[in-house]
Formats: sequence, C-alpha cells, structure tokens
Amino acid sequence: MREKHFACKTFEVPLGAAKIARVKSLTVGVFKLPDGYYAMLNVCPHKGAAVCEGPVCGTTRQTDDREFVYERAGEIVRCAWHGWEFDIRTGEFLVDKKIRARTFAVSVEGDNVFVHV
Ligand code: FES
Repeated sequence: MREKHFACKTFEVPLGAAKIARVKSLTVGVFKLPDGYYAMLNVCPHKGAAVCEGPVCGTTRQTDDREFVYERAGEIVRCAWHGWEFDIRTGEFLVDKKIRARTFAVSVEGDNVFVHV
C-alpha cells in the first residue's frame, strides 16, 4: 500500500530542472510542469545513473522527411550518462515504451509536495 511522504516545498522545485528529494530510503526527482508536479525515481533503468539530474528538454520527432522538428520542450528528462530520454509524466523511455523509469503519484497540499511511495 502506498503512503504519502513529504518530499519538498513547492517553491523548492525549479522550472526546467528537478528538485532532488529524499523520500523514505529513495532518492526522487520532483519536477514542475505546466499541468502539475511529477516525481521520478532518480535511478536510470539503463545503467543506474542519477537520471533526474540530467537536463530537462524536449525531443526531436521522427519524421519521414529531412525536416527537424523539435517538440515537447520541458516534458522530457535526458539521462546525462548515455542520453536516454524519458517522459517526465509517465517515465516512458521514448525509444521503447516497454522500458520505464519508475514514477510516483504526487499530491500538493498548500506549499507542500508529497510523493506516494
Ligand atoms: S545510465 Fe541512463 S542512459 Fe545510460
């Protein structure tokens, strides 16, 4: 059963980067997106790097043409070790949706951010 744990204050979460918080025995990245707060385990499913400490960015859409389409700015975190890109909302690895970074439900009460672990 998941329990609610205090992670950080809302004002501690920067735009465009994660607030790294300790939740129980876990290290979690808390992100602020335009539609709310999200939390991801700070362990990359590839080789275990601190994925949430990588850059928050967008991604390049695959196209049939030679055009370069950059989209989803601010919705993706890119692991600093090997560049794998993960959807901050779902944890999905963009290249293979069967691979996911672990994510957690988040709730906000006043200026307190809680992660449900
Ligand atoms: S450890 Fe994250 S991409 Fe390799």
